[in-house]
Amino acid sequence: MPAGGFVVGDGQKAYPGKLTPFVLFTCVVAAMGGLIFGYDIGISGGVTSMPSFLRRFFPSVYRKQQEDATTNQYCQYDSPTLTLFTSSLYLAALISSLVASTVTRKFGRRLSMLFGGILFCAGALINGFAKHVWMLIVGRILLGFGIGFANQAVPLYLSEMAPYKYRGSLNIGFQLSITIGILVAEVLNYFFAKIKGGWGWRLSLGGAVVPALIITLGSLVLPDTPNSMIERGKHEEAKTKLRRIRGVDDVSQEYDDLVAASKESQSIEHPWTNLLRRKYRPHLTMAIMIPFFQQLTGINVIMFYAPVLFNTIGFTTDAALMSAVVTGSVNVAATLVSIYGVDRWGRRFLFLEGGTQMLICQAVVAACIGAKFGVDGTPGELPKWYAIVVVTFICIYVAGFAWSWGPLGWLVPSEIFPLEIRSAAQSITVSVNMIFTFIIAQIFLTMLCHLKFGLFLVFAFFVVVMSIFIYIFLPETKGIPIEEMGQVWRSHWYWSRFVEDGEYGNGLEMGKSSNQGTKHV
Ligand code: BGC
Repeated sequence: MPAGGFVVGDGQKAYPGKLTPFVLFTCVVAAMGGLIFGYDIGISGGVTSMPSFLRRFFPSVYRKQQEDATTNQYCQYDSPTLTLFTSSLYLAALISSLVASTVTRKFGRRLSMLFGGILFCAGALINGFAKHVWMLIVGRILLGFGIGFANQAVPLYLSEMAPYKYRGSLNIGFQLSITIGILVAEVLNYFFAKIKGGWGWRLSLGGAVVPALIITLGSLVLPDTPNSMIERGKHEEAKTKLRRIRGVDDVSQEYDDLVAASKESQSIEHPWTNLLRRKYRPHLTMAIMIPFFQQLTGINVIMFYAPVLFNTIGFTTDAALMSAVVTGSVNVAATLVSIYGVDRWGRRFLFLEGGTQMLICQAVVAACIGAKFGVDGTPGELPKWYAIVVVTFICIYVAGFAWSWGPLGWLVPSEIFPLEIRSAAQSITVSVNMIFTFIIAQIFLTMLCHLKFGLFLVFAFFVVVMSIFIYIFLPETKGIPIEEMGQVWRSHWYWSRFVEDGEYGNGLEMGKSSNQGTKHV
């Protein structure tokens, strides 16, 4: 039997280890970090369509909505201050994810999660008690700081903790929490909007305290990852933890590889400038392009503005929130499909299938909205079947995203970076994600007002581009240990020219020894 790791015939390294209850527990708790992000995404759209909230903080939008009911439906929510409320959070998250990079690297992944939880808690309280617009914005900024920390640390934590064979599924726990957070928020909005006296929005916004407490308490009980412990010089502790996590006594091969990766990492003084080195070109490209494309699918148009959108196509406020609940449930269910399939079918298959599905749906939705609303935005009577067709295709679109770009947009970056750039590169991923979430949140309503149904075609165009990008440039990363990832670039037709043999990372990947195609035991 193998002592420690061994190389299997296809050139991939394999470490012994099981899916232990301990690792499952830590991953489930850590994945809950996604709840705060999801809760926020789900709550914003519903709150900004509650009349009492608009009347109090955004009276001009409220008046316009009252007066405009029969005219141009594309433009009724077009207000920069209203969108600033939604999007200020993403700018804050962008900044804090950069700070989180240092915290995560120097003090461990858990501490970043703890900071994330505490900041989010503070923001939720300020929002729940808000009396003025500025309080709303300050609250949103604190929430954003929290999300920046959590999204930087949680995906890394999961990818490092998980046995490599289950890394995809365990990492997608993060996306599952995001989708659960969105759904819970949407259901709460639906009920809170009905509260007499119109103060339900306070409960919606203040309710964010609950997911914040979960991740705060969770981070206090979690152990740090062995990779991070070794990086911070705690070698013995790391070895003991690794044995516990993997559920086997002989973890020497994996441990030695982690130590070697950490040595390489220690020699790097400036992780940021280091990222610019030629050998990290594939990583940097993916760190930027994957989150960029994830946002350009247009998913957050649905997530933030589903109630507004459903309202626009003729639902009442109540039915609009209900429709959002429907899309939210599809989002959760389809994420489960991804958890099941990601380590079986691989990342590339899901990316490409999801892209095709989204493309078809975007074309259909654009055609439906175009046919009824035309270019002047005056639909007249909308038959029920019409709304059902639009909602159905929106749901199929959401499912496509939820088993492809949604989870993989977080999984793939967190598993491809070598330790020495992992923390910095993950911050780039979070920042790019946030900046494009911000841009889309900020300009969507204006774009809807001007581009009308053509807006959906813009996103469709990007879905085509991103699918081609994946097809050509993304190697399959399924079933490869995280500190061994160098081999996928070395054997890639394009990236191999940047990542020369022996030049990559600490040179411990098994691509070299695998040439013999033997099985070391
Ligand atoms: C994205 C979010 C999106 C969510 C929807 C996440 O992966 O980063 O922007 O709102 O998925 O489920």
